Amino acid sequence: MNVCEYIPGLENIPAAKSSISYVDGQEGILEYRGIRIEELATKGSFVETAYLLIWGELPTQEELDAFEGEIRYHRRIKYRIRDMMKCFPETGHPMDALQTSAAALGLFYARRALDNPDYIRQAVVRLLAKIPTMVAAAHQMRRGNDPIQPNDNLDYAANFLYMMTEQKPDPLAAKIFDVCLTLHAEHTINASTFSAMVTASTLTDPYAVVASAVGTLAGPLHGGANEEVLAMLEEIGSVENVRPYIEKLVANKQKIMGFGHRVYKVKDPRATILQNLAEQLFEKTGRDEYYAIAQEVEKVVEEKLGHKGIYANVDFYSGLVYRKLGIPSDLFTPLFAIARVAGWLAHWKEQLAVNRIFRPTQVYIGERNQPYVPMEKRL
Ligand code: SDX
Repeated sequence: MNVCEYIPGLENIPAAKSSISYVDGQEGILEYRGIRIEELATKGSFVETAYLLIWGELPTQEELDAFEGEIRYHRRIKYRIRDMMKCFPETGHPMDALQTSAAALGLFYARRALDNPDYIRQAVVRLLAKIPTMVAAAHQMRRGNDPIQPNDNLDYAANFLYMMTEQKPDPLAAKIFDVCLTLHAEHTINASTFSAMVTASTLTDPYAVVASAVGTLAGPLHGGANEEVLAMLEEIGSVENVRPYIEKLVANKQKIMGFGHRVYKVKDPRATILQNLAEQLFEKTGRDEYYAIAQEVEKVVEEKLGHKGIYANVDFYSGLVYRKLGIPSDLFTPLFAIARVAGWLAHWKEQLAVNRIFRPTQVYIGERNQPYVPMEKRL
């Protein structure tokens, strides 16, 4: 069999045929099942978007009500899992807690009945329902609090904010958070989705698939950038400090968090929507001192690196929105994971139909036919 040329990071190498989402990196276009992200962000909801991504079409009102009802029913987490989470160290990062919790769901629910549509639906509903509850519960436990139970009268986004703050959220805050979830739900074959697909291709259970993807998303080059962006804005400290700070990073060829993308060579359309959401929030709750710094950072980075196709990506403004919603920065990436469960599950389902294990090859560059050197002769 002829071996293709080795391309680092599989850049521009198709690893699947998919109908879930489409990205045009030159035009800055993102579509979920052919629908522009701008449409879904303004007219839909995250749960409706998750249904669209996973089952391939927009739900009727009856289908959406049933799906939402099942998710509300399954939001509670078993006491045995809550008791396990109580043992998590306060020092661990919430993404590590989330990865462990997702795998723990597999202990209770994994049956690998992948040819059973009811099992598939149950796994989809349980993961969409329980992942946010686990993130909120772990957050409360880290602070020594006993996590409150989900509020069955609140929708997906509002219930998460309620479990985080123990107060009913402002309707604008809940709507903006719901849009953030839609924006982060899916993005073709990014690193964490590719992890999910590789794991899925072995026909393991969907809980292991999600746990594998969470571990991948945690890296600062992928999902972890939004937390790093806020740390950078805090370190810059003022608009006046932006230019020298960025010029130093560029001179040292250091990666600037929240910028650049393997596919987008223009501003990420999600960054534009998130920037508008930030401005809506600031109008209602007051300006954020870091927003002016962020706008200056974007201007200077575009001036210095725009010619290389390096522009703001989805992670650049999301942290400012979450900060305004009162969410601590160590939860920014778990929020990304909560949303991306929808995309991971969509690709898991799509991968099951392919039914072919991922097993790429390599270009071997090591030694051949070497002797086993006895210990006494080793230098
Ligand atoms: C996400 O894939 C997805 O779809 C991911 C995502 C999703 O929804 O799943 O969109 C979410 O992961 C967004 C990206 C969040 N990460 C960051 O913001 C971290 C900072 N960004 C970079 O690490 C980087 O841009 C990547 C990892 C996102 C993409 O890197 P590539 O495509 O591998 O680019 P590269 O490393 O090959 O760099 C090409 C050139 C280099 O310069 P030269 O050596 O050619 O002179 O561009 C430069 C790089 O130095 N470059 C940057 C840069 N990103 C690339 N220079 C400064 N700052 C940056 N952020």
